[in-house]
Formats: sequence, C-alpha cells, structure tokens
Amino acid sequence: MMISQVEREKLLSAQQGEMDGVETYLTLAKVVQNKTDAETFKKLAADEGRHAAVFRKYTGETLKAKKGQAIAAVLAYRILGKKLAYPIIAHFEYSAISGYEKLVKDYPEVVSVKNDEKRHGDTIRALAKNGEDKDTALWPFILGAIAVMRLFGRRR
Ligand SMILES: [Fe+2]
Repeated sequence: MMISQVEREKLLSAQQGEMDGVETYLTLAKVVQNKTDAETFKKLAADEGRHAAVFRKYTGETLKAKKGQAIAAVLAYRILGKKLAYPIIAHFEYSAISGYEKLVKDYPEVVSVKNDEKRHGDTIRALAKNGEDKDTALWPFILGAIAVMRLFGRRR
C-alpha cells in the first residue's frame, strides 16, 4: 500500500501518542495508591502497546516513548488528586477519537483502537469515583502555603 507523506506523519504521530500512553499508564500504575486503579492502568498500558503495534505495521518504524506526558499525568495526580486528575486524563482519551475516525477508512484496523480509547475514557472516569477519600491531593496545601506567604508578606 502506498502511504503519502502527510498520511505517514499522521500515523507516526498516532504511534508516538500510543507509546507515550504506554509510558503514562505504566508510570501511573506505580504511583497511584489505589490497587484497583494500578491494575487497571496496567491493562490500559497493554492496550496502548497493542495500539502502537497497529500503527507500527503501517509505518514500519519503532518509536520510543517520551516521558513528558507521563510526568504531566503524575503531577496532575499528585497536585489535583485523582478526583480531578482522572477526568482530565479521560478527556485526552476521548479527544484522540476524532483523529482516529478519519484514519479508519484507509486503515480499518484503527476501528478497534478508536473503540478502545472510548472505553479507556469511560473506565478512567469511573475510577475517579472509587476510593477518592484515601487520596491526598496537594492543591489544598499549596493554596494554604500561598495564603500563609501572602499573609506574612503583607505584614512586612
Ligand atoms: Fe490507545
């Protein structure tokens, strides 16, 4: 099959996104406190790995995961707590869907990838509601520290 340069860029960027997804979910699995969450993230990482393999068949390239997205996800989890961070992560899963819809016509295997992203979004949104009371978000402490600093700053 002939793949144009533009198409190839799209497939490569999709493949990179999936590789970054593997890294993100494996990293989250190590960081999150809730065991169910950790097990779920490991499964999602495996799905993302399968997705990357789908795109790799078309691009013929082996890509390495970049760390940026995983770091951002961990920061969001630590600072916001899962109740706020998970819906944001779910949003990124949903936002991948429209791009994949455009690829389905020429690359039929992308259908299963697209359907997985919807399922991932739903799964992560559901996780946001389990055991959130055990989760310690840093934002109340950060806001508290800022408030204290401003209070003392004003007295000088
Ligand atoms: Fe994926």
